[in-house]
Amino acid sequence: MDCLQDWPEPVVPVQSLSESGATAIPGRYIKPPSERPSSASAAFQNILAIPVVDLGRLSEGAPECRATMRAISDACRDWGFFQVVNHGVSHELMERIRELWRGFFHLPMEAKKSYANSPRTYEGYGSRLGVQKEAILDWGDYYFLQYLPPSAKDHDKWPSLPTLIRDTTEEYGSEMAKLCGILMKVLSVSLGLDVEFLHKAFGGDDVGACLRVNYYPKCPQPDLTLGISAHSDPGVLTVLLADDQVKGLQVRKGDAWITVHPVPHAFIIIIGDQIQVVSNATYKSVEHRAVVNAAEERLSLAFFCNPKSDLPLGPARELVTPNRPPLYQPMTYNEYRLYVRKNGPRGKTQVESLKAM
Ligand code: OGA
Ligand code: NI
Repeated sequence: MDCLQDWPEPVVPVQSLSESGATAIPGRYIKPPSERPSSASAAFQNILAIPVVDLGRLSEGAPECRATMRAISDACRDWGFFQVVNHGVSHELMERIRELWRGFFHLPMEAKKSYANSPRTYEGYGSRLGVQKEAILDWGDYYFLQYLPPSAKDHDKWPSLPTLIRDTTEEYGSEMAKLCGILMKVLSVSLGLDVEFLHKAFGGDDVGACLRVNYYPKCPQPDLTLGISAHSDPGVLTVLLADDQVKGLQVRKGDAWITVHPVPHAFIIIIGDQIQVVSNATYKSVEHRAVVNAAEERLSLAFFCNPKSDLPLGPARELVTPNRPPLYQPMTYNEYRLYVRKNGPRGKTQVESLKAM
């Protein structure tokens, strides 16, 4: 793992390139033509509605609860992706956390660089995923921090400014962990499993969780690059709080990239690779990416719920039948995430590579 000790080249924050006023982006941010944002899929955008689920209906009567379960199950099969409203998280907290993190990215560069990260844990302020020398890079900076298990959390690795950012991130993390708990129960039941199945399968009270705050500065040539390249999230599930003003997230549907229009005060739920593995591909993780634009910066907060790191994870026995043999070989999350940490975002190649022969 020596290659994960340090970055292969000096890291240049994308924000400093953006603020230099240059009208052309450096060559190493220019994607090959096949990966650039294209408008070829624009025609699909109005006819394909991304599912929005009202979680409040889970606590109404049995018919409402069943209908909600069905909506989630359909969304997980057809999209690997949905938005939730009535999720119980205070709208005021959602606005407050976003403004604090926007404030962090607006601090002087020196203040941010004092939290510069390394590829060993990725915790801190960073600008790249992957350690491949001379890789083509994404047009985005981020802050990555560990929230669960409690033993992995280290407040000294969290920014101390703007004032209250630590306390508020703590409060937000606790709400996110609660929401992930509810979603894991719902997904378990919707897969026909015991309500606690996924929670237990992913490590019970030892599940992991981390937060990545993504900051996409303005880009003078947005048609040539991406804020984050196509990938699926490696963990269990992601709760994304998207920018309330600026669109940029796209999900893959077949050959098309569909731009997500976030519903006000909704969270976007993204099914990760480990749900695909444990559900034996009943549910699939979704490939997604972010585009950038010339007029406005964009901020998103991705809360990742991950398995306990040292459990070998394979398809649930309950979901393996003679007609549907296990599709994936077991692997621990520690091993699994090394791939993205080394290679950066690579579509869905990683989960595909687990396919049992
Ligand atoms: C991520 C991600 C998308 C976005 O952080 O994994 O997919 O809109 N972010 O920032
Ligand atoms: Ni993602």
